[in-house]
Amino acid sequence: MAEIKIPNHVGIIMDGNGRWAKLRNRPRTFGHKKGSDNVDRITTEAFKRGVKTLTLYAFSTENWSRPKEEVDALMGLLEKYFLKFIGKAVKKNVRVCVIGDKKVFSPKLQKVIKDCEDASKKNTGNVLNIAINYGGRQEIVRAVNNLIKKGKKITVESISENLYTTKNGEPDLIIRTGGEYRLSNFLMYQGAYSELYFTDVLWPDFDEKELDKALDEYAKRNRRFGGVK
Ligand code: IPE
Ligand code: IPE
Ligand code: MG
Repeated sequence: MAEIKIPNHVGIIMDGNGRWAKLRNRPRTFGHKKGSDNVDRITTEAFKRGVKTLTLYAFSTENWSRPKEEVDALMGLLEKYFLKFIGKAVKKNVRVCVIGDKKVFSPKLQKVIKDCEDASKKNTGNVLNIAINYGGRQEIVRAVNNLIKKGKKITVESISENLYTTKNGEPDLIIRTGGEYRLSNFLMYQGAYSELYFTDVLWPDFDEKELDKALDEYAKRNRRFGGVK
């Protein structure tokens, strides 16, 4: 196989769990369970293909408006995910970071996230950012307020340095599954020049083959960043 241009940083909007379950006459939470099972598979495959940083959108600041039962199920799945990941991250040399406002999570979820982040802090391999209670607009407002508090100048660079994602924060490619053509408040600042890839495939069905399709498409894109190429 010829060498293809691999994106350094990929963001994924993991959408379509609810519809995946509905198609099977199952509750939406069943789709979330399937979706969470898919996270590990795609993470492993993406890193295997040379992606260095992955940022996964797991729960937006707007997702709190869903029925309590669904929100509780999602929080429960996240807890399980981090518990399972603590040992694995260390073994795989992956650094795990949660981006978003963590203060509102249950003490238990906050603890497993902290344990996972602490256990993987010194890992030097891949970076896995998980966006939970994350909103791109809120992130920009927070960054600007931090700068004002510190008496710093507001510049493109200083805002960038005060976002949740600092180093290598700008995704080369953003993939959205589930057939919607929008960003839904994901990486609003960092995504200014990201290549966007939309697929109708629902997140639980997004497998290695679908990942390769997205990477192949990325390899064909001509990134000009406003210049001429
Ligand atoms: C994405 O799947 C997961 C989250 C937003 C937490 P959805 O739950 O949005 O699934 P659809 O879009 O309703 O199918
Ligand atoms: C975006 O999906 C958020 C995540 C995938 C976590 P949504 O399902 O919340 O987005 P909208 O409501 O269709 O824009
Ligand atoms: Mg959705």
